[in-house]
Amino acid sequence: MQVRHPETRWDWNKIEVDTIDFPPGFQWGVATSSHQVEGNCNNNWSRWEGGFKADGNPRIHNGDRSTIACDHWNRYEEDIALIKALGVGVYRFSVEWSKIEPEAGNFDDSAIQHYRDVCLALKAAGITPVVTLHHFTNPLWFEDMGAFENEENIRYFVRFSQRVFDSLKDHVAIWCTINEPAVYTSQGYFNGVWPPGKQNPQLAGEVMKNLLVAHTRVYEALKSSADGKNYQVGIVKNVFPFDPYNRWNPLDWFVCSILDGVFNQGALDYFQTGKFSFSMPGMDKVKYINKSGLGTLDFIGLNNYSHQRVKSRLNSKEFFRFEFYPDEEMTDMFYPIYPEAIYRSIKRVKDIDVPIIITENGIADKKDDRRRRYIERYLYAVSKAIKEGADIRGYYYWSLMDNFEWSEGYEMKFGLYEVDFTTQVRTLREGSKQYMDIVARFSQ
Ligand code: BGC
Repeated sequence: MQVRHPETRWDWNKIEVDTIDFPPGFQWGVATSSHQVEGNCNNNWSRWEGGFKADGNPRIHNGDRSTIACDHWNRYEEDIALIKALGVGVYRFSVEWSKIEPEAGNFDDSAIQHYRDVCLALKAAGITPVVTLHHFTNPLWFEDMGAFENEENIRYFVRFSQRVFDSLKDHVAIWCTINEPAVYTSQGYFNGVWPPGKQNPQLAGEVMKNLLVAHTRVYEALKSSADGKNYQVGIVKNVFPFDPYNRWNPLDWFVCSILDGVFNQGALDYFQTGKFSFSMPGMDKVKYINKSGLGTLDFIGLNNYSHQRVKSRLNSKEFFRFEFYPDEEMTDMFYPIYPEAIYRSIKRVKDIDVPIIITENGIADKKDDRRRRYIERYLYAVSKAIKEGADIRGYYYWSLMDNFEWSEGYEMKFGLYEVDFTTQVRTLREGSKQYMDIVARFSQ
């Protein structure tokens, strides 16, 4: 039986994906994050990785641990050559706070020098560095003082950010403050499957609020330097549209609207209206209206991978489940290929009225039998949004190479390059050539 989908669906049999168009100067790039690729981290994640869930299973799929990951810390020159070979002009990476400030107030100059060297090597290869200051990981000392649970701790993140900015700003013009505050919050404080493994909606609301305030404080600090206007500072927001399983079930719609508020709209409101609120059934509302997010974005980084389909349940312990229709083609992650999601997400962040950079989009596809189609269809959706007026400045594919996919360990293969984790050999995947072809077509 053909299921009627309640959400926007395009007829891909009628779409010609090569009718795409991208403006001159569009930034084509690839992205990674420190903990996922560098190796030898000693942070909240490395400590979390060794542990077990309540049911006795390891917290990380297969009991994997990040350990040396892609050894990118030592192999960055080789990896920059791989970036260049793709034809892209931007590399988005994150700096590892735990390596730069292993103890509170004690900065390791050699770690900072490492990132300067990375920037120099990128420049020599003609690739623009885009730096993320926080991508899910915290130094242990910061984690142990409650990290972003306490508003007073934000100053440590501001101090660190200022230090990194001062050390790298002669090489870096585009800065992402915090990667996906809602993912950090929901996984660490609501689902409890990432560190610190708490399940406390009230605290989740506090953390989310503090991450947004942290963004604003870092924005203000970096932009207040004498040459602040020369730098673009933005946050990276993951948007996942939530769609009901049963369009005739009001409870499915209701749960979608709650999840959307917490995961998507809360942060968007903060930047659009200056107000933040967070509420879930059975908790007090966390409201934060004093500190305005208005005017604290030079751009918004948008990460989108797919949508979620929500089936409500009359069960107070688990009041919904994600469940997809049989005709939805899945990625290796727990969500399908649904290119319309990126288009719908762009339409939402567009209302903030700042330029958009797609800071992440990509597919986990071990068999490499869907990557090509994913790339051409999602880029079709991005191009369509641009044609309809969205101010999108760039697109960074996630990820340059296979890497440590958080609680999914090494099982998920997001890389344009396949990595053999015993030999560290990187090999270009066939499906990635679609990205290279599109990049070549729209780069002068
Ligand atoms: C994160 C990445 C992650 C990717 C794929 C994003 O939510 O920023 O760190 O690897 O999604 O799941």
